[in-house]
Amino acid sequence: MLFCAVSPVSLYGGMKQMDDISHLKIPTHVSIIMDGNGRWAKKRGMPRTYGHKKGADVVVDICRDAGNLGIKYLTIYAFSTENWSRPEKEVKTLMLLFGRYLKICYDESMENNMRVRVIGDKTGLAPDIQEKIRVLEEDSRTFTRFNLQIAINYGSRDEMLRAMRVMLDDYKDGKFKKEELDEARFSSYLDTADIPDPDLMIRTSGELRLSNYLMWQHAYSEFYFTDVPWPDFNKAELVKAIEAYNARDRRYGKVKET
Ligand code: FPP
Repeated sequence: MLFCAVSPVSLYGGMKQMDDISHLKIPTHVSIIMDGNGRWAKKRGMPRTYGHKKGADVVVDICRDAGNLGIKYLTIYAFSTENWSRPEKEVKTLMLLFGRYLKICYDESMENNMRVRVIGDKTGLAPDIQEKIRVLEEDSRTFTRFNLQIAINYGSRDEMLRAMRVMLDDYKDGKFKKEELDEARFSSYLDTADIPDPDLMIRTSGELRLSNYLMWQHAYSEFYFTDVPWPDFNKAELVKAIEAYNARDRRYGKVKET
C-alpha cells in the first residue's frame, strides 16, 4: 500500500512534528513545474538525461507524499509544447521515461484509488503512449482518493486555442448564445474542465516564470519558488512550500475586512 491515511505520526515519526503539521491548511490543488533536471545532472558530470531519470523517480515519491499529506489534486508539468525543440536524444529519453512511468502510474493508480488524467495535446504523442494514456484515464475514471494530472505536450496558449476552436463550433451549432459565454463556460472547454484551479504553484530550481503553464487556471494561485532542483525535491521541501502557502493572505482581489 503506497498511500496511508493522513497520519502525521507516520509522516514524521514523532509527536512534535505531528503538531507541526496538524495546524497547516493543506491546499486542495498543488501544481508543480519540475525544473532543474539538466543542471542537476551537469553538476555531477552526467548527461542531462540522467537528471530526467532521477526526476522521474522523484515524481513517484512526491505523488505518494502529496496523497499522504491530504492534497487532493496534483498537476505536474512533464513536457511542454516548446520542449520538442530540445536535442532529439533528450526528447527520445523523455518519451521513453513517460512510457515507463505510465506503467508504474497505472499500478499505483489501481492500488491507491488515484485518478489520473493527462492534459495537453495528446494527438501529438506517439500512438503507443496515447494508448497507455487512454487505458490509464479510462480505468482510473471512478477513483476519488487522489487526482494526478500530468501535463504532456502541454502549453497554455495551445490549450486555449484548442478550446476556442471547439467552442466556436459549438457556438456556430447554436449550443450557446454570445451572452452565455462566461468564465465557467470557457473553463469547461479547457483540458482541466472539472478540476479546481491550483491553490499553490511550486517551481523548482530558481527560475521565476510561468513558462506557458496553466495561465488561465493560475489566475489566483499562490506562487512558491525554490532554488532546490527537481531531483533533490522531497517531502520536506513540499511541506516547506505548504508552510509558505499558509503564511499567505489570499484576498482574490478584495480588501481584507477589519
Ligand atoms: C525541466 O528540467 C524538466 C523537464 C523539461 C521535464 C520534466 C521531466 C521529468 C521530471 C522526468 C520525467 C517525468 C515523468 C512524469 C516521468 P530541465 O531539463 O529544463 O532542467 P534545466 O533547467 O536544469 O536544464
